Order: sequence, then C-alpha cells, then structure tokens
Amino acid sequence: MRERISPAKTISGSIQLPGDKSISHRYGMLASIAEGRSTLRNYSSGADCRSTLECMRALGADIAIDGDVVIEGRGLDGLREPAGELDCGNSGSTMRMLSGIVAAQPFTSRLCGDESLSRRPMGRIMAPLQQMGARLEAREGRFPPLTIHGGAVRAIDYTLPVPSAQVKSCVLLAGLYADGRTTVREAVRTRDHTEIALQEFGADIECSRGAITLTGRPHLRGRELVVPGDLSSAAFFIVAAQMAREADLVIQGVGLNPTRSRLLDFLAGIGVRIQVLDVQQTGGELIGNLRIRNSPVRGGRIDGDLTAALIDELPVLAVLGAASQEGLEVANAAELRVKETDRIATVADNLRRMGVTIETRDDGFTVPGRQSFHAAELDSFGDHRIAMAFSIAALAADGPCEIHGAEAASVSFPEFFDTLRRIAA
Ligand code: S3P
Repeated sequence: MRERISPAKTISGSIQLPGDKSISHRYGMLASIAEGRSTLRNYSSGADCRSTLECMRALGADIAIDGDVVIEGRGLDGLREPAGELDCGNSGSTMRMLSGIVAAQPFTSRLCGDESLSRRPMGRIMAPLQQMGARLEAREGRFPPLTIHGGAVRAIDYTLPVPSAQVKSCVLLAGLYADGRTTVREAVRTRDHTEIALQEFGADIECSRGAITLTGRPHLRGRELVVPGDLSSAAFFIVAAQMAREADLVIQGVGLNPTRSRLLDFLAGIGVRIQVLDVQQTGGELIGNLRIRNSPVRGGRIDGDLTAALIDELPVLAVLGAASQEGLEVANAAELRVKETDRIATVADNLRRMGVTIETRDDGFTVPGRQSFHAAELDSFGDHRIAMAFSIAALAADGPCEIHGAEAASVSFPEFFDTLRRIAA
C-alpha cells in the first residue's frame, strides 16, 4: 500500500494512542499463565501484540477480543501442546519472550515468523535457555524457526551479554517455572515492564542495582489492567510537532515508565518544549499527558546507555537531527542493524532519497543539522518504525511524498495515518 503525505505547516489537536506494545505483550502472556480472568484495557491494536494473543490461544488460553482483551488464564501448568506452529509474525518480542514460557512446558513447540523475523538473531535467548536445561534447534543454529523441546528448567544466574529487555524477560519467564531463584544481571538498565507486570500478577521479584531476582513457582492471579499509551508511538508525533512551523499538540494517557521516558529528558535537553501533565500510576506503570509546542532544537549526541534507552526512537530522531541546528550523532547502536530491518541502512536510504546527508558507521550515524527535506518516493522496507519515521519527514518536505509499504505501520500502530491526518494541516 502506498500512502501519500503532503507537507504540513501546523500540527495541533489532542490525540490518544494505542496501548504500549511492550506492556501489551507482557500482559497477554502473563494473563494466559495466571489463574482466573484478566481484563486488559487499551491493549495494543498492532499486529505484533495480536500475534502474541494468537500464540497464547494456540497454547490453550481462552481469549476474547472485544475492545478489551479478556483472558481466562490456564495457570502456570495449564498450557497445552499447540496443534501447529506458533506464528510470531513480525514480532521479535513475541518469539523471544514466549520462548521462555514454552521452554518450560512438557511438550515441543515450533516458533516461526515472517521473512524479517526469520533473519533476526535468536542465539541471545538460546544460550540462557540451554543453560536452564531446555533443548532448542534453530536454522543455522541461531535463526527462526525455533524448535523448543520443553521440560523441567533450572534456576540460573545470568548476566546479559547484550542490553536487551526481551532476553531479560525470556529468562525471567522461564524462571517462573524453575525451583529456586533465577537472577538476571544487566550492566545497562533496559525497560522493566516485565518486572513490574510480574509483581502485578503476584510474583515474588526483587530488583536492586542491576540484578533482578525472581522466585520460581509463584501463584499468579488474573488482574484488571490498563495499558498506557505507547511512548514510542508518541515519539513520531512529538517530532512532527517539533518540526512544524506552528504546533500545539496534546497526547493523552502516555506511558512514562522511567526506563522509557529518557526519551523525554533527551528531547527536553536539546530544546524541545514538552510539558508532562497529570501523572498517575496504573498497574505499577506511570502514565500522563504530554503537551508539545515547537521551538528551535539544538541536536546532540546519543551514546552509551542512552542509545539502548532510545533504540526504538532512533529512526525518527535521525529525521529530527537533520532539521535541528547542530545535527545528531548516534554511537553504540549496532543493535539497530538487527531490528525489523537494518535500521541504519533503511534510515540512510530514505534520508538520501530526500536529499539529506547522513554518514553511517557500523554502529551509528551522523546527520548534520539545518538540512532541507525534498519530496521523494520513500520506502518502509516492511518496517513499521521506518514507515512512520519517514511519514514525519514527509510532513517537512517541499512537496508531497509517497511512502511505499506504508501498511507496515500496522505492526504497532494501525491507526497511525488516520491520527496523522487529524493533527496535520
Ligand atoms: C522490547 C525491547 C527492545 C525493543 C523492542 C521491544 C521489549 O528490544 O527494541 O521494540 O518489549 O522488551 P531488545 O530487547 O532487542 O533491545
């Protein structure tokens, strides 16, 4: 599908976003292995989180999707052997986190995905699951499809070799089934939605100075939970507002978990005018409203831990960098090369089509500031965040742009283009 985007001078209005993708996956999985009913409000409408629900259904969870997602959990030991493959679609989170659960089941599961997911590395979850006692097979030893011969798992003490919340979550979810205490250590703090959700569902989990320790075999109970709006989706509109000539945009009910909201600190630090209003807590997660008005932005450098904290937002920040005064430099971002696409390559390809200069390196890029965006034919390359980042770039172009493969946005945000049309003039 092609989407035509015309330039916009003004970004204004008040919008609500679909539920956070990361939190939705975790709630969908934990509700399925809890006892009793869970009601999940504002569950992500994206295809990725739907893949998680379909996999949990295939494993025996009773799931009704009717506005809210209502799940009759099967209890820790109530899942059943799936009749066919567990299709994770485009979703790395589904495959990596679900692997932790199925590794501990008394049956074999086969997890597959689309072409993009089939190229993504799984060695990072295979190593700890093998240490826990699971037997796994993968194409060329590390790519999907994954065959997981589940069984009893043992508790381990594992230090993450890459900063990855998906890997951390995989080990913790497997640890639910182990006797004793499973510890995951992380040198760089990654998003902690799994830790918070585990606590909400009743697990015994302690987090202190980079070590997360979970006691196995907890009694998980169904819950009523509200998924906060997705801050990573909000990032596209924040940048759109920032780059417009006039802007006053309110985004309601956005998740503000501190492991994610470093995005807002970074943006405020380079001059973006963001107000955070009406902050509350729900299900252990912070949620609030954002108001964004435009002002000149300086640009800056993203490296070290900050790169890991902003990893999903880097494509749209590259766009902002080109419009900023001093440009943007990103380092320590080799992980971008193994996302839904090689995001260093796909960002550079689209920026260059618009006449924007970018210098790329193995683990990052530099985009000089004060550049103009020229109208061009752009491509999502099948990656949702690339489709959305370049729709925002298109708003600032000197004429209409076409985004090829725009349907990719529906992986995390099916309503993206409708929402964009409502606020852009
Ligand atoms: C996610 C973790 C990050 C992120 C992804 C969602 C999660 O991936 O990029 O979009 O929900 O845990 P990694 O764990 O690979 O860093």
